[in-house]
Amino acid sequence: MKYTTEFWMEASDSFVDRLMLQLPFDVESDEFLQNPYRFYEQVRRTSGPLHVTGAGQVVVLGYAEATSVLRDPRFGHGAQAAMERTNYGVPAPAFVLTDPPGHTCQRERVRRAFSAREIQSLHQKINNLAADLTESAARSGTADIVADIARPLSAQVVADLIGVPEDLRDNFVQAAELMVRGLDPPRLIAPDTRRRIARARIGLAKDIAVTLRRPPGTGLLHTLSEGSDGPAARAEIIATCAQLVAAGYETTVGLIGNGMHALLQHPDQMAALTATGPSEQAVAAAVEEMLRFDPPFQMAPRSALVDADIAGTPVPRGTIVSVLLGAANRDPHIFFEPHRLRLDRQPRHLAFGLGSHYCLGAALARLQTTAVLTHLLPRRPRPAGQLVSYRPTRIARSIRSLHVRLDAPRSATRPKHHTEHRAEASRQR
Ligand code: HEM
Repeated sequence: MKYTTEFWMEASDSFVDRLMLQLPFDVESDEFLQNPYRFYEQVRRTSGPLHVTGAGQVVVLGYAEATSVLRDPRFGHGAQAAMERTNYGVPAPAFVLTDPPGHTCQRERVRRAFSAREIQSLHQKINNLAADLTESAARSGTADIVADIARPLSAQVVADLIGVPEDLRDNFVQAAELMVRGLDPPRLIAPDTRRRIARARIGLAKDIAVTLRRPPGTGLLHTLSEGSDGPAARAEIIATCAQLVAAGYETTVGLIGNGMHALLQHPDQMAALTATGPSEQAVAAAVEEMLRFDPPFQMAPRSALVDADIAGTPVPRGTIVSVLLGAANRDPHIFFEPHRLRLDRQPRHLAFGLGSHYCLGAALARLQTTAVLTHLLPRRPRPAGQLVSYRPTRIARSIRSLHVRLDAPRSATRPKHHTEHRAEASRQR
């Protein structure tokens, strides 16, 4: 079988279309993009924590039910879905879509790159980068937090983690920005955009293959290729690294953008946070509440691998189960005033999923967001008036831009960092 653009244009239709377009919400409407939570609440009010659609799909809105599905090995992806929904032009699935035991081995190989020690070693670099980007964004007195800070920071961190060489980084950022749209139902994406997405994915995988043929560099690409040989191992490395771009880039941008937007919408919470200094502990707590309040990844899709049940509701083998992380994070049985951002709670949210697929990049995303808040909040960000809109993606959720006024830095001008040039390019796209 040839894993070409055309193959994926056809093959990737079925699961995601069925998954999204059978949901009991008008996912095509702009209202849903702007505020999916209102839709979740309507369904919760009429159906409770579980909703079964006319087509038999189970939609999970309750926190306890979401937790039990994510931990239950009877729910997974199935071997066929894994290949159908991965489209990096190589015969290997993204491991987020695989089930144990294959998933367990692959995850273990990658997990080494995400150990607490590895992540902590990036701390200083991320902090300096966040400081540079914030300072340069603040220079004109206004900034777009998404384009000027979140995008260049997240791109640089994921590229470093993987070990993308400098000459391929611009291709990489362009592919990463397009790829997130490919998570959506193909039916909602114009054919020419779908084609661009499929090409971007395959282009990214080719760039990774080119890098693998070069002398050993740094990062995950290097670590994974040590001691592994042959086409199957190469395909697996390519799919893994391409998946990290899909999983790690836009999500972190979403957390910084959505989270800062939520803070700006709750001035009392912003004031309470800044009144603490803000302290390291208060910033860390704020990041968790941002993750609960408006998570950048709204849904974890699963299928029943055998006849199963969720809290006593029978779920026949093959049933699609949509775990709505964004809805579970606002379950009123768990969270007091769920629709309010309250920095005084310690939310046990599901923004990073749970169980065997729990996000490998959680610590990295937290580190980046904490660094941005630490440098941004002392500049007293205030809304700069522009209307806010979200990217036209449903599984991923990220604000398109977030304009703020900032206190200007006191220091004199300094030469531009290379990430600032990329920020300008990203703004123009
Ligand atoms: C705020 C930022 C992020 C959010 C909200 C997020 C969310 C998630 C969620 C919900 C899952 C589980 C999906 C499922 O169960 O179906 C997941 C898995 C994953 N995430 Fe993240 N993620 C973020 C950042 C990152 C970063 C920065 C990376 C790496 C660079 C990353 C890498 C991964 C990987 C590799 C998996 C698959 C784990 C597995 O299947 O075993 N994520 N993420």
